[in-house]
Amino acid sequence: MEPCSWRALILVFFLLPLLTQGRTRHYKFNVVAKNFTRLCSPKSIITVNGRFPGPTLYAREGDTVIVKVANHVQENVTIHWHGVRQLTTGWADGPAYVTQCPIQPGQNYAYNFTLTGQRGTLLWHAHIMWQRATVHGAIVILPKRGVPYPFPAPHKEVVLVLAEWWKSDVEAVINEALQSGLGPNVSDAHTINGHAGPTSGCASSARDGFTLRVDQRKTYLLRIINAALNDDLFFKVAGHLMTVVEVDATYTKPFTIDTLLIAPGQTTNVLLTADQGAGRYLVTASPFMDSPLVAVDNSTGTATVQYTDAVSTSAIATTKLPPRNSTSLASQFIDSLRSLNSKQYPANVPSTVDHSLLFTVGLGVNPCPACTNGSRVVAAMNNVTFMMPTTALLQAHYFNMSGVFTNDFPGQPLIAFNYTGSGPNNTQTMNGTRLYRLPYNASVQLVLQDTGIIGPESHPIHLHGYNFFVVGRGVGNYDPATSPSKFNLVDPIERNTMAVPAAGWTAIRFRADNPGVWFLHCHFEVHTTWGLKMAFVVEDGKGPNESLQPPPKDLPAC
Ligand code: C2O
Repeated sequence: MEPCSWRALILVFFLLPLLTQGRTRHYKFNVVAKNFTRLCSPKSIITVNGRFPGPTLYAREGDTVIVKVANHVQENVTIHWHGVRQLTTGWADGPAYVTQCPIQPGQNYAYNFTLTGQRGTLLWHAHIMWQRATVHGAIVILPKRGVPYPFPAPHKEVVLVLAEWWKSDVEAVINEALQSGLGPNVSDAHTINGHAGPTSGCASSARDGFTLRVDQRKTYLLRIINAALNDDLFFKVAGHLMTVVEVDATYTKPFTIDTLLIAPGQTTNVLLTADQGAGRYLVTASPFMDSPLVAVDNSTGTATVQYTDAVSTSAIATTKLPPRNSTSLASQFIDSLRSLNSKQYPANVPSTVDHSLLFTVGLGVNPCPACTNGSRVVAAMNNVTFMMPTTALLQAHYFNMSGVFTNDFPGQPLIAFNYTGSGPNNTQTMNGTRLYRLPYNASVQLVLQDTGIIGPESHPIHLHGYNFFVVGRGVGNYDPATSPSKFNLVDPIERNTMAVPAAGWTAIRFRADNPGVWFLHCHFEVHTTWGLKMAFVVEDGKGPNESLQPPPKDLPAC
């Protein structure tokens, strides 16, 4: 054979598949305790590889990722790849007692999944108790090799992980709250890449803080992640505007804004151009909470944007903090979000609906003789306070085990009332491990309705295993007769976590094309603990790649 046809053969059989198919990327996550001294009240925290935030997981669209997690701490551990679709690989999703039993001390589990049809920024985090306070990090999914971003290529990319820091042990914080029946203590600082910032009162030194160095006139892609437990955050860069290009690993129509809103579990990619005078500019992460009834950590996490030519002793340009209760700023941001909906990245919004669901989300009060007020605050969807099983739901589903869950989660509120009014006289909820069953490929419309029981409050609701389209939102009670006429079925934002506004509702649509058991919950960890969660069982389809894969051999046992 001619040498050139040999080359052609090598190209076709070896190199082309390498270029077009994904690679396999191996990561090792050692879960270890670490004495952490950078922030106020140094303490031992649970970390991955000794780092807070944890390591960034880099991959490309189409890659297979294998993360071997080894548990070297005294507590049970699981890791969730928040926003990764996990098509037919629910066993690798991670929520404890939903898709797996925890990895016990001294044990290992290899999470094995493929990144299909997604590119952008996501996050990974522990999914058991309140461990994700310190066990979290970024997932960066680059486009396939040779595929450009649908926006001007940035000079550099930077990951910014926003989080919360508690002086005390987080498990002690929530345990104390569960015993008293009251709300838990709020965090003591907001952090940016593990630093609270020099003026926060929670830094180890006056020079503490994350610095983003920029060259004048260059453009940077900031991959911003809210890994906080309980706080929605506003994010600003003094003197600069930001252009939003992606949220939750889906591209958006670009828009320019000076204040971002980011809820726990959400990610936002923005372009920031260093178009100001050489100097130093403050970056702020401050809370958004529009209910006066809910306690929140009022501290501001800070970082610095520093131009290469700036004098390092020059004063930092500051910015006016967004008012903590600014519903209008929050809505302005949320209402600006649209799917890119291009030929290459279309918005495939389900146009018909097979299952039309309405879930109330909110709090409740149940009797508790041993509690401080004789009652405890709980949370519920459709009045069901979800009880975690002691066997993983996915196992129970796959192996047809009875007695672990029931299939009768109500698709509508059992009693209709004025949800956003003063609430019913009876604030009590019922306990249950109830799931909602969906046939493969059903198209689902789910309206999430906040309630005024106790007090209205915004809730960042996250669905595992799916992206959904946010087709509508409004204030007051959802009205099936009039609200749908304003739905956007053309270019609604596609994401995995969205805010249900205080005293309002949000409508989402998705196609149930991923078989398994998928958690739906409020991404405020305190609300998850209180029971604001449920799960969908999505049945197998009949075609190839439409069934849940068998469990991996090393799946932890309970
Ligand atoms: Cu980011 Cu169920 O979680």
